[in-house]
Formats: sequence, C-alpha cells, structure tokens
Amino acid sequence: MERRKALKTAAVAALALGGTALLADNHGGKDHGIASKEGMNRVKMTPADPKNPTDYELKHMPEIKLGKTDGKGFTSVKITVGKNGIIHPSTADHWIDYIELWADNRLVGKNELQPVISRGYTTFKINTAGVKKLTAVAGCNLHGIWEDSITL
Ligand SMILES: [Fe+2]
Repeated sequence: MERRKALKTAAVAALALGGTALLADNHGGKDHGIASKEGMNRVKMTPADPKNPTDYELKHMPEIKLGKTDGKGFTSVKITVGKNGIIHPSTADHWIDYIELWADNRLVGKNELQPVISRGYTTFKINTAGVKKLTAVAGCNLHGIWEDSITL
C-alpha cells in the first residue's frame, strides 16, 4: 500500500474509534498536518478567579490588541492566544484550532488554524462604529473553549 493511502486508512480508523486524527501528507517535501474535528474538547472554560488567572489559564485566554484604523474606518484587531507573554503551544497533538471575533453579539470573523504550522494568532479588520464590546473566542483541542473581552 502506498504511503498516502496507508495514512488515510489509519486516520479513518482513528476517527471510527472516536479519536483525533492527523493526516500527514507530503507536498513538495514538506509535511502538513490536517486536523479532523473529531475528538476536540468543546467545553466552555473560565478562569476560577478571573482577577487572578493561573499561568495555565493565561496560556489559553485570547488577548485582544487594537491596531491602527485605516482610511476606510477599519481597525486592526490582533488576537493572540496566551496572555502576559504565555503563548499557547502548537504541536501535532495540542494546538489552538480556531479563533473567533465577536462585536457585541455578532460573529464578525473566524479563522481556523492547523497544528504545528500555525499558532494561536490572527488579525481581523473591522469597523468598530457603534460597537461597545469585542470578544475573542479560542478553541484548544485538548483544553476547551476560552474567551476574553475588551470594552471600547
Ligand atoms: Fe491547551
């Protein structure tokens, strides 16, 4: 059996067992991980003491930073998963798989991320006119869904 077919067969078997599967494929000599949605931890998490989060909690909380506003009125919103410089890892079995940005109660952006090659970071440009609160939501495949907000 050729390598590619063998990897896909193994991934399907892992999914059938309820596990997380990574398909390693070779494109031009570089490996790319393709994450499945199966087996992800989708439990909503909050810090036990929001005023004094632990390093583990800080590592999963998305940090929102506003950048410049362009000539059309769109402001750069940078989101990094990990606060106070404690950056969440991106390894084959532990990574941030998505980041969302909410303006008040409206989903205005979502970025899906891949293990190893991407880390928990994204940027959106949004028009913040009339927006009172921005909330970033991030999913860790192992440790659930975390969020944090800033008031404008
Ligand atoms: Fe994690």
